[in-house]
Amino acid sequence: MSEILLEARGLARHYPVRAHWWQTPRLLKALDGVSFAVQPGRTLAVVGESGCGKSTLARQLALIETPTAGELWLDGQPVGQADAAARATLRRQVQMVFQNPFAALNPRKSIAATLAEPLLLNTPLDRAARWERMARMIREVGLAEGHLLRYPHMFSGGQRQRIAIARAMILNPRVVVADEPTSALDVSVQAQILNLFKDLQAANGTGYVFISHNLGVVEHMADEVMVMYLGRAVEQGPRDAVLQAPLHPYTQALLSAAPTLAPASAKVQRIHLQGELPSPLAPPSGCAFHQRCPRATAECAAQVPVWREVQGRHLACHRV
Ligand SMILES: Nc1ncnc2c1ncn2[C@@H]1O[C@H](COP(=O)(O)OP(=O)(O)O)[C@@H](O)[C@H]1O
Ligand SMILES: [Mg+2]
Repeated sequence: MSEILLEARGLARHYPVRAHWWQTPRLLKALDGVSFAVQPGRTLAVVGESGCGKSTLARQLALIETPTAGELWLDGQPVGQADAAARATLRRQVQMVFQNPFAALNPRKSIAATLAEPLLLNTPLDRAARWERMARMIREVGLAEGHLLRYPHMFSGGQRQRIAIARAMILNPRVVVADEPTSALDVSVQAQILNLFKDLQAANGTGYVFISHNLGVVEHMADEVMVMYLGRAVEQGPRDAVLQAPLHPYTQALLSAAPTLAPASAKVQRIHLQGELPSPLAPPSGCAFHQRCPRATAECAAQVPVWREVQGRHLACHRV
């Protein structure tokens, strides 16, 4: 049970950005040092407001970008030290499902052509064996073999997301990174897609990194939860500790804005987040959350809180 599929240690991604070409670039710390491990059949849910660095994290995990700092381990191997060939093999082990199933599929390709692509590139399967594999996969995601001959526009949003999931899963990756995979879908189909993710995980032992700004989704999917704020984790731990008894004022504020979830037992009073997420180009001093925090003191503005363990989870806050 202690086997680890994916591990991040202080993972960071900084982007040099400038408003005009004559300016010297400034560093935007989109992701600024997060650590976690994902085990087989387990789900880490990543939650936080838009702009806190969730998609940036996803791109590092899927080896789409190279982190600025920190380490990424896949299947017990440090990705940073892998040569091109080893990297290509590792990349296959982590697949992504994106938010928008309308943009994710090529409208000119049949579903069969879309699903065949990873098989052609990565397996020696012949035509008949490829079809066999695709037919099995399309049924696993709740569609029918006949759907393979159709084109994306012939499907609903939920069905397209099923196809995107089939494409992600067809090579049997160890880890799937899903970036807001249900937030573009009708509420009525969101639960079906979430349950499909769960069924596939139970069948294949896939590890998930499940990104969402929706706490209901997080509650449904997560074993572990990481709450992010401006590129960093502010609270992280087992789902019930973080969601049933949140300690960080930011987690409490997020939960109090999701009334159906905030458990009465947690006695979370309704906290209204003031102001907007500050710009990651000019992050606040000290604790990045202090300007919006109802409990902030002078210390919070002056000193960065250390990451420490409190009551079965980790957090960074002077006031807990
Ligand atoms: N390629 C990039 N170049 C510069 N800034 C970026 C780039 N990608 C993301 N950012 C910035 O990094 C921050 C985090 O973005 P993102 O990871 O997309 O957040 P989220 O997915 O949580 O909404 C944002 O301020 C965004 O503008
Ligand atoms: Mg995003």
